[in-house]
Amino acid sequence: MKKRTLIGPITQVLTLDHLSLKGALQDDQLEISHQAGILIEGGKIHSVGSWERLCRNFPQAEKVELSAEFVAVPGWVDCHTHLCFGGSRAKDFAMRNAGKTYLEIAEAGGGIWDTVTQTRKMSQNQLAQLTAHRANRHLSAGITTLEVKSGYGLSVEEELKMLRAIQQANTLTQTDLIPTCLAAHLAPKDFSGSASDYLYQMAERLFPILKQENLSKRIDAFVEKSAFSPEEIRPYLQKAKDLGFDLTLHADQFSVGGSQVAVAYGARSADHLEASGEVEISLLAQSNTIAVALPGASLGLGMGFPPARKLLDQGGSLAIASDWNPGSAPMGDLLTQASILSTFEKLSTAEVFAGLSFRAAAALGLSDRGKISAGYQADVILFPTADYREILYHQGKLTPTQVWKNGKKTEHGFIPIEPRAQF
Ligand code: NIG
Ligand code: FE
Repeated sequence: MKKRTLIGPITQVLTLDHLSLKGALQDDQLEISHQAGILIEGGKIHSVGSWERLCRNFPQAEKVELSAEFVAVPGWVDCHTHLCFGGSRAKDFAMRNAGKTYLEIAEAGGGIWDTVTQTRKMSQNQLAQLTAHRANRHLSAGITTLEVKSGYGLSVEEELKMLRAIQQANTLTQTDLIPTCLAAHLAPKDFSGSASDYLYQMAERLFPILKQENLSKRIDAFVEKSAFSPEEIRPYLQKAKDLGFDLTLHADQFSVGGSQVAVAYGARSADHLEASGEVEISLLAQSNTIAVALPGASLGLGMGFPPARKLLDQGGSLAIASDWNPGSAPMGDLLTQASILSTFEKLSTAEVFAGLSFRAAAALGLSDRGKISAGYQADVILFPTADYREILYHQGKLTPTQVWKNGKKTEHGFIPIEPRAQF
């Protein structure tokens, strides 16, 4: 018989069961199991229910008895990050705050290209160490699955180095890393040819190696005036789609256009959406493309938030991700960002929790996680409180006491922001 572990008694278990993938959610739709146990078998949730009943029915299970009040929620899923990078862009941040715009800084040689230069200087091993370090910081905050993009390499070899580093980092941390190829982040300054030539070359040369080495199943692109236009990106996306890659786009961050392409190509998600208007909102809401809000980028750039409330009210699906990157979103604190977004956009706790769990998992094409329900991965966070509403109320300052990944309690302590001295 497989080993079974029984955790409890837990004051409130928020299973997130029976919540829809799309549309607005009310807090009274949250199913809460009180004084409950979570029974884990083989890394998956076996059952959730009354602690006393589970103790009676499964006397052989190894018990992890809790002696204080806790609320359990599913491990968070951060479906959009760029946390594999070298260097820092503190200079950009200071310049922006002193009045320069993100695009002005990019045009003057800062921005994404600066990080490309610094990332190219690093070895695969150094990048893997940094990525695992940041992923562990996320894990200690309860993020048990996180997407990591390439996109600071911008040549076949350098993109491969990044994706191999992400693959290596995945072996160095307990959290699951889901790699995405973002070779279409920016047309690199050192490529002699048009943006379309660059994309053609990446599709022809890089895509087959991604398949061979199983480095990524997902292709992302930045559709924006400073990056790639809808016309330039279409053939690239078509090629990716033909090869069976999942698609996701950086869309409508500063100007519209990207979300329409995302819907037309059946992308899993359209991310950013700060500039989306009524047309884009209704298009997204009627599609199966998940809207991903990145409040960390709004906070990092001093911009408005995406129209999350309207998207949900019109029936769309909304996930919330950190966008953790050295330029626009250096904080990386997903729960703080989600809580702030909920205050500005008037999101219910159920909508935020859904957006951080099973809806975010769906944006990654994963249906095996994001709920505390039989058959799901046993990814669970225990917060030291008796009332689930305390979690967003503390705006990220209430931190997990225990984080469980695949049925195992993870080890984490204080993780400093960056081990910069090593590099
Ligand atoms: O999602 N918008 C484009 N890409 C990132 C920023 C990356 C960077 O500035 O390094 C984003 O905000
Ligand atoms: Fe991003």
